[in-house]
Amino acid sequence: MDKLLAFLKTKRNPKVIVLTGAGVSAESGIRTFRETGGLWENYNVEDVATPEGFYSNPDLVYEFYNVRRKQAKLSEPNRGHFAIAELEELFGNNFLLVTQNVDNLHEQAGSKNILHMHGELLKARCFECGTVIDWEGDLTSDDKCESCSGPMRPHVVWFNEMPLYMDEIISAVSDCDLFIAIGTSGVVYPAASFYQMASSKGAHTVELNLHPTGANFDTIIDGPSSRTVDMLLKELRSVYTN
Ligand code: APR
Repeated sequence: MDKLLAFLKTKRNPKVIVLTGAGVSAESGIRTFRETGGLWENYNVEDVATPEGFYSNPDLVYEFYNVRRKQAKLSEPNRGHFAIAELEELFGNNFLLVTQNVDNLHEQAGSKNILHMHGELLKARCFECGTVIDWEGDLTSDDKCESCSGPMRPHVVWFNEMPLYMDEIISAVSDCDLFIAIGTSGVVYPAASFYQMASSKGAHTVELNLHPTGANFDTIIDGPSSRTVDMLLKELRSVYTN
C-alpha cells in the first residue's frame, strides 16, 4: 500500500475508476463464470451468449437469462458493493464505476455513477428499434416491443458484440489517476485492457481479487472483496478525508 499512498499524496483530487467483475457478486450468491462451479462449466458460451446461439435456439437463450434474472432478484448486495458505494462518496464526481456485471447489486448498495458495459439483466431490448425497457419477469419469444412490435432480447451484451459506453469508458480510463479492478479475471477484452490503458497514461493501478490474476498491477490486495474493499477504503480515507 505504501507505493499507492505515496502516489496519492501527489494527487489532491484524483479521478478514480473502479472496474468490477463477477467476483464482487460472488459473496451475494451469484455464480462467477470461470472458477470451479462457474457458469461456463454448465453452459457453452456459444449456445447462450452469442447472437449465433440465439438465432439457432432462442428459447434456450431466453431460459438461460430467465434463470439468471430470477437468481439476481433473490440476491442482496454484500459488504463489497456497499464499500464501493462509499468509495464513490469519498471521491464524488471524480468517481466512475464501470461494471461487467449485469445484476443491479451496485445500484441496490447505493452506487450512482455506473456504466454497465455488458448490459443489464433487469432490462430488455427490442431487436428492431433498440428500445430498452425495465424487465423483471421471464422474457420469451412471445414478448414484443411496445413501440414497434419487434421481438425482444435480454439487454445483455453477447460475445462478438460491442460492449456499451465504450467511448465514454475509454475517455475516462485514459484520464484517470487511480484505476481499481475488483473481482475480475481480466481475460475478457476490452475490459481486460483498461488497466494497461490507465497505467500508460500515468495512473496507479490496483487489483483486488480473491487470488491475484498475475496481471501487472501496481498494487495487489488479495482476499474476498467483502473485506479488501474496506481495507483500501480505510487507506484512501486516511489520505482524502480532511
Ligand atoms: N472477492 C474478490 N474476487 C473474487 C471473489 C471474491 N469474493 N470471488 C471470486 N473472485 C474473482 C475470481 O478470482 C476471478 O478472478 O472474481 C473473478 C471472476 O472471474 P470471471 O468468472 O472470469 O468473471 P469476470 O471477470 O467478471 O468475467 C468477465 O466474461 O463471460 C463474460 O460477460 C461475462 O462479464 C463477464 C466477463
